[in-house]
Amino acid sequence: MTQDELKKQVAEAALKYLKNVPIIGMGTGSTVTHLINLLADCDFKRDIEGAVSSSIKTTEHLQKIGIPVLDLNQTGDLEVYVDGADEVTPHKKMLKGGGGALTREKIIGGASKKFVCIVDETKCVDVMGKFPLPVEVLPLARSYVARQLVKLGGQPILRENYITDNHCEILDVHNLSIIDPIALEKTINNIPGVVTNGLFALRGADVVLVGKGTEVITL
Ligand code: 5RP
Repeated sequence: MTQDELKKQVAEAALKYLKNVPIIGMGTGSTVTHLINLLADCDFKRDIEGAVSSSIKTTEHLQKIGIPVLDLNQTGDLEVYVDGADEVTPHKKMLKGGGGALTREKIIGGASKKFVCIVDETKCVDVMGKFPLPVEVLPLARSYVARQLVKLGGQPILRENYITDNHCEILDVHNLSIIDPIALEKTINNIPGVVTNGLFALRGADVVLVGKGTEVITL
């Protein structure tokens, strides 16, 4: 199977977590794109009252298939949030933000009772950090934050020609070996000017579905 076929397969396996859930939380990325396409044709779509979306891209896709997009301030906490990841550990800690939607993803994931992470097997790692860690920053703080990230041993590179949905910028931090993801998540988030970073360790996933070969494994 190709990586994209694995993504579609795992998205299909996530559908059952959305059944009988009136308001769903929806992530961002190519795996989630498959999930939304599958939702468009599934028999329980009409039971979904709405979704809270983690990005403008996801919002547009949900609206295109006729699912109303709701404001998290109005809905309160959600039952289920489904999203992809760039890396995930056996302890269900994740590194996310390759698609730049990390801040809204972290907020909605935090406001959800169950975080279902959907990945293909290439995303499974023992130690995170091979994928550059995205850090969303206020534009005026970019250089200051970059200097602090260098002190932490990373090599931050500005994501060129990219502005987040929150009108901020992203530093992709290379060469981090993330031995203690909870500590690093807190340390980076404490740097003034950081909106958030792509470590999802303090609040990891509750369920990880991995597309592997012809099957889907549940962690
Ligand atoms: C977006 C994300 C995505 O979940 C992550 O980049 C995985 O994307 P894909 O499903 O395309 O592999 O964190 O900000």
